[in-house]
Amino acid sequence: MSVLTELYEEIANCRDCELAKHRTKVVPGEGPEDAELLFIGEAPGWYEDQQGRPFVGPAGAFLNQLLSSIGLSREQVYIANVIKCRPPGNRDPLPAEIQACRKWLDHQIEIIQPRIIITLGRYSLARYFPNESISKIHGKARKEGKVVCYPMYHPAAALHQGSLRQIIEADMLRIPGILQQAESMAEAPAAAQQLRLTLD
Ligand code: URA
Repeated sequence: MSVLTELYEEIANCRDCELAKHRTKVVPGEGPEDAELLFIGEAPGWYEDQQGRPFVGPAGAFLNQLLSSIGLSREQVYIANVIKCRPPGNRDPLPAEIQACRKWLDHQIEIIQPRIIITLGRYSLARYFPNESISKIHGKARKEGKVVCYPMYHPAAALHQGSLRQIIEADMLRIPGILQQAESMAEAPAAAQQLRLTLD
């Protein structure tokens, strides 16, 4: 059994917050253990709760389109959420629920060690940049320790607010270039210095 599969079993048994009582299925996340890109959404919605898979509803269909705009399929990237169980009625996750669930995503990140973490929406943004507003920092990559963090709007926001659609599409198109920079950073320390300059 892979390390991630073992982790999924632990997550499926989690009862650390009230959301466990309401879920149909836990939604741990999915994707290859060696994914270079890790996308982090907010929490499962109705479709995800039914299927136990992240981003399989309308927001997921849009995420798939965005991925194909950079020549990727969802099988090539890792997709997870800040919260692993659906909040009733799709309400916003509570701070205590986010805190209780934090360890699972921490483990996933340790195992996968992605080159870029792409935050989708404000809850995953807050994990890295709690005092920043998404309207100011979307589409700007920043180095956070060993990983590059890249904030984007949530695909569902673009579905509800048409004006965000072009913005999220344009932000997605920047990812291949950032990945290339992140790769050269890992290969050559001198490039790391340069990346810091371009990313800041
Ligand atoms: N929205 C999210 O943030 N995550 C999902 O898995 C689905 C919709």
